[in-house]
Amino acid sequence: MSEYQTHEHDVLVIGAGGAGLRAAIEASAAKVSVGLVCKSLLGKAHTVMAEGGIAAAMANVDDRDNWKVHFADTMRGGQYLNNWVMAELHAKEAPDRVKELEAWGALFDRTKDGRILQRNFGGHKYPRLAHVGDRTGLEMIRTLQDYGIHQGIEVYMEHTATTLLLDGGRVVGAFGYDRERGRFRVFKAKAIVLATGGIGRAFKITSNSWEYTGDGHALAYNAGADLMDMEFVQFHPTGMVWPPSVRGILVTEGVRGEGGRLLNNKGERFMFNDIPDLYKNQVAKDTEEGWRYVTGDKNANRPPELLTRDHVARCINREVKAGRGSPHGGVFLDIAWIKEKLPKAAEHIKKKLPSMYHQFKELANVDITQEAMEVGPTTHYVMGGVRVDGVTQMSTVPGLFAAGEVAAGLHGANRLGGNSLSDLVVFGKRAGEHAAAWAKSHGQGKVDAGQVESAAKWALAPFDRAGGENPYGVQHSLQDMMQDKVGIVRNDGDMAAAMDGLAVLRKRASAVGIDGNREYNPGWHTCLDLPNLLTVSEAVTRSALDRRESRGGHFREDFPDKSKEFSNHNTVVRKGPDGAMRLCRERIPEMRDDLKKVIEENK
Ligand code: FUM
Repeated sequence: MSEYQTHEHDVLVIGAGGAGLRAAIEASAAKVSVGLVCKSLLGKAHTVMAEGGIAAAMANVDDRDNWKVHFADTMRGGQYLNNWVMAELHAKEAPDRVKELEAWGALFDRTKDGRILQRNFGGHKYPRLAHVGDRTGLEMIRTLQDYGIHQGIEVYMEHTATTLLLDGGRVVGAFGYDRERGRFRVFKAKAIVLATGGIGRAFKITSNSWEYTGDGHALAYNAGADLMDMEFVQFHPTGMVWPPSVRGILVTEGVRGEGGRLLNNKGERFMFNDIPDLYKNQVAKDTEEGWRYVTGDKNANRPPELLTRDHVARCINREVKAGRGSPHGGVFLDIAWIKEKLPKAAEHIKKKLPSMYHQFKELANVDITQEAMEVGPTTHYVMGGVRVDGVTQMSTVPGLFAAGEVAAGLHGANRLGGNSLSDLVVFGKRAGEHAAAWAKSHGQGKVDAGQVESAAKWALAPFDRAGGENPYGVQHSLQDMMQDKVGIVRNDGDMAAAMDGLAVLRKRASAVGIDGNREYNPGWHTCLDLPNLLTVSEAVTRSALDRRESRGGHFREDFPDKSKEFSNHNTVVRKGPDGAMRLCRERIPEMRDDLKKVIEENK
């Protein structure tokens, strides 16, 4: 029998970014015992990569804003595949969650009259992003962490969950290991909240750090939960492209929100050349009007750089492919030009975008107050995830909840920038509240020793294959393949080849081996991450093959238009009885009439 230490909680939260911390705080406020497991150190989360702000219709900068406009913008951005129950709750509750963050100590930038300042972002009709310079996610994490640490939450840093434990279909705990010593842990829990973030590490160029290997998606899938809309992966238009060691690191949309312009190597603002019909009446006709919008003129339309991310990323891709890119395979992003308009432009840029200034100065030796940056798309976010109830966030597995990036629904086919931070706190809170309620009304289930034993045996198997293939080799092959064949522009042939490639990679992954022992051994950890990466990659590829149209973050050059046939269903994958992945299309429930009216009014 394997040795393991047991911990017991009413609610176990796996993942300690914005959603996990907010869920843990809420569950703990309901007076249940809470454990919080995080893969790396507390506070190190992809949440910090949402730099430019948190979207909430507070109407501090433009009094025409309200939850209805935010709801309509979110639905339009998601191309109407969103879970509209979630989109309504999100738009209505986000302002309260922002005020709560402020009450807990977050220091937002202010308007001249002392209210929380809000900035423009792509796809949002009005300036809506409450922000702290370009470090909003970081400030949010700092606030939630400081607040949460005093709520009696037990934190397990540098722990990874590998398997969910079930009792008659209900989740009753998780099996995992501590990354430092490699010792096994069993966490018994009445309810579990997954808040593990995304899948960016399945791709070669990504803003995600090493933790984001689709763990929560795979844990849920293996426990029998549905995954939904996995074809929708967001490629943020602006990541660093040079030097190679920093490729993919995020360049916040806040740069464009502050007036940054995208240019090709001919100096053209190419974004003016392609304005989608859905946004035709919202985009500036010329440079001057776009700048007036940035500076708060309510009668002006937004610059084309602030169209939705999917569209901007594809336009950049097109420029590069057409030979109009920058020297290192991106395009130019220029904020320095505002010196033509503002007397103290350099100070202004440093104040509004301090992290970007330092990031480019330190990493690329570029002074963004004087010269243009080179940028290109980077895998940033997955809209797809665990299918949840829109109100409670419970998945299709009883007792298993999910919130934040790992959950599907809110963003539909494409997420608007800034809607992630609000998603984390709105639905983190809801997941924590409902998980606590579930825990109070259900006893501790039975943890089956057999399940624990086979989880332990599986985890140790790479040591029995010492001398087998290096796990990093398999991971790199996967990342290259996903980037190349299931990236920004997709087609049937490439994706069919990727499906074949996945079968080969699965074989290779099952033969990876590792030397050494269980004490801090990143190679071993990678062996255990690989099956998760393969599961989410298969879910993305299978779903993308099935959706024979282009919509939101999913673009197919062989089906470049939206299709009515695919306009009202979500793609669902689940594990079949034989262990193979099954796909089905599920019709989106008819929207309430009052919400249809809101959309109509905001067209
Ligand atoms: O560009 C950004 O600051 C990212 C924001 C987000 O992903 O929400």
